[in-house]
Amino acid sequence: MSTTKADQSLVVLGAGVIGLTIAYLAALTEDVSFNIRVVARELPAEDMDSQGLENNQGANWAPMELGGRDQRVREWEQKTFNKLWDMIPTGLVKLLPARAYAAQEGNASDLWWKDLAQNIRILPPSDIPEPFKAGVAFDTISVNPVEYLPWLQSELISRGVTFERRNVRSLDELRNLVGPDGILVNASSLGSRSIIGVEDTKLYPIRGQTILVHAPGLQECLMGELKTEEVTYIIPRPGTGQPGTAILGGTYQSRSWDTSLDMQIAKRIFDRCAALAPCLKSAESRIMKHNVGLRPAREGGPRVELERIPLPLQSTHGLVPCNESPTNDRDHDQGSMLVVHAYGFGPGGYQRSWGAAEEVLGLIKAQVALKRT
Ligand code: LAC
Repeated sequence: MSTTKADQSLVVLGAGVIGLTIAYLAALTEDVSFNIRVVARELPAEDMDSQGLENNQGANWAPMELGGRDQRVREWEQKTFNKLWDMIPTGLVKLLPARAYAAQEGNASDLWWKDLAQNIRILPPSDIPEPFKAGVAFDTISVNPVEYLPWLQSELISRGVTFERRNVRSLDELRNLVGPDGILVNASSLGSRSIIGVEDTKLYPIRGQTILVHAPGLQECLMGELKTEEVTYIIPRPGTGQPGTAILGGTYQSRSWDTSLDMQIAKRIFDRCAALAPCLKSAESRIMKHNVGLRPAREGGPRVELERIPLPLQSTHGLVPCNESPTNDRDHDQGSMLVVHAYGFGPGGYQRSWGAAEEVLGLIKAQVALKRT
């Protein structure tokens, strides 16, 4: 394909792993010259302590139910696993030996992901700790969002992408920035529940509480099955700035918006993890931080699709907030905005990011090609 000189306006709403990965793939695209702007309420580096930007501070590839039953999600995960695996030499991604334990015998051998992760092997009964009954060992990857997101951002800045901190409450606030021929990527995560023009009531939070520890003795990722709201996992993270850290988890509390810390839960997390990894109680281990974050889940799974949204926005009963002088808006009263939605990835945003971003970019490029014909 030939390179066009005319810049295609692309506005990305959201600076989490999904928005940044989409922006990154767009910035690397050679056959379309994108003019990329990222608009977000919270930005990497400055806001890594926020509730929205993966406050859990750890992310690995782990088998999750949706990957097993949804072919599209499985393909996103396969692509993302392969991409992150290839990034191990950069130091941003850690090669992580892992053990996943199951409560029932037989569960561990039911592996839809046997071609996805590396070096999978069933553990002998002598290697299964109480209270589990079966287990499987494999090699996976982990990233440290506190280093990974700022890395993506700095790569984008070096390619001319601009970042604007802005709390967008209604999609039509972005129409001038997007422009009549531009495309908006909506990667606003849980925000899409209340952003006017999206208002997706299928979105809901899964509250996650975790503990960040410095524990250089932890070399393996250990995971219990995700069957209840309180689960057990230990995820050692890569870290050039802070080596030897790991995330202890955790909770999966569906529909809880509570971002306050619960020290009773923290105690149970620590005790469960220390039972699996006694080195957590050794003198060289220490607790660095307690985290509470909300995973952006969605009934029916993630939403990755194109939508042409009519302007002025429908279904608003004329109640859209407007902070500009109404006369400035006259010219834009008609028309529509092309939006590619990419949100609702639940607990799997990192492990689906590269595959989902590739699909989003495919949708964007198809629109650009249509406009040229
Ligand atoms: C979580 C992170 C640690 O969802 O992956 O808890």
